[in-house]
Amino acid sequence: MYDALKPILEAELAAAKENGTYKVERVLESKQGREIVVAGKKLLNFCANNYLGFSGTELLEGPSDETIRKWGFGLASVRFICGTQTLHKDLEAATAAFLRTEDAVTYSSCFMANVGLFQTFFGEGDAIITDELNHASIIDAIRLSKAERHIFKHMDMADLEEKLKLVKDKRLKVIATDGVFSMDGDVAPLAEICELADKYHALVMIDDAHATGVMGGSGRGTHEHCGVMDRVDFITGTYGKALGGAGGAFNATRKEAADYLRNRSRTYLFSNALDTGIAGVSIFVLDYVQKHPEVRERLWDNTKYFRELMAQNGFKVTDAQHPITPIMLGDEKKAVDMAKALFDEGIYVIGFAYPVVPKGKARIRVQISAAHTKEDIQRAVEKFTSVGKKFGVV
Ligand SMILES: Cc1ncc(COP(=O)(O)O)c(C=O)c1O
Repeated sequence: MYDALKPILEAELAAAKENGTYKVERVLESKQGREIVVAGKKLLNFCANNYLGFSGTELLEGPSDETIRKWGFGLASVRFICGTQTLHKDLEAATAAFLRTEDAVTYSSCFMANVGLFQTFFGEGDAIITDELNHASIIDAIRLSKAERHIFKHMDMADLEEKLKLVKDKRLKVIATDGVFSMDGDVAPLAEICELADKYHALVMIDDAHATGVMGGSGRGTHEHCGVMDRVDFITGTYGKALGGAGGAFNATRKEAADYLRNRSRTYLFSNALDTGIAGVSIFVLDYVQKHPEVRERLWDNTKYFRELMAQNGFKVTDAQHPITPIMLGDEKKAVDMAKALFDEGIYVIGFAYPVVPKGKARIRVQISAAHTKEDIQRAVEKFTSVGKKFGVV
């Protein structure tokens, strides 16, 4: 019966090409890193979530090889049957210790960690209050729960309070927010969110995918950055961005909540154990970031340097507190065409236009890494400036 589906797909794909939402994957012919090869061309890479610069480096190859030699490649089992090795317990303990939570439960991805959260704890008679710009995985995860859903305006605490008032009589209430929002690098006001949570007796969930290893005085995440270390109930995050880049994720939470996840969370129970290699490397990386604060310091130096140079050259740079640096252009076509021109000049960045970001807020998103050198950043700014002049941006 593919005959029935084929014309629908053809029409949808043609429409996506027409309205500019069709995605073409650029194929890397190299490892991930500050420099990559695409279509035979060397590019400086400014669009990976490789904030600490570990992805693709030799630093992780030894721990990966050693882990696979010792523990094997994979387990062919879910955790509760015969897929839990000492390694997984060690990773969960290391993750909880790093994030300063009581426990942590691993998942194959952060998408799965989010999907496995809301439906497990919240159902009929409960309410989930969610930021309008939360990641797609939170949006989809909430849809799977039978709890009532209320959406508050992006980081708008007055609106959040209104929504909390509406649900004050529910059995359980949970506020869900990204710790750092990936389009703008803006940081959720967790101190205020926790105050409101206390006032209205709500739980707090954050998705720290872009923050673990990056935010806070010692890289523990947004809860550290905002000074609310013991006030967040669920922290989902990933080993697949700053902490190495391969994948794997966690939900770091309270003792009973972790126990309950291991018993009831469907994306944990009915999905294979986290890859052995990722588990071993993640243990190594969590230890490494604590012993080498200079890596995070380099990331912040680079971020500051890039933002300053761009502003000096006349670009509109928001003052967010994260290595995600959106260069605001407004015009949709300009953002996409300028990113392409930068690609031709050897700088790999991505232009985001509607519907990924609101109309009129098109931008090029730059992601800085600790792996970048000062020369890389100078070169990127030079190219931004020459291309920006051609496009009448500066
Ligand atoms: C905020 C946020 N949450 C969750 C995810 C999903 O993470 P994973 O790739 O581990 O499924 C992402 C990935 O882009 C993300 O940016």
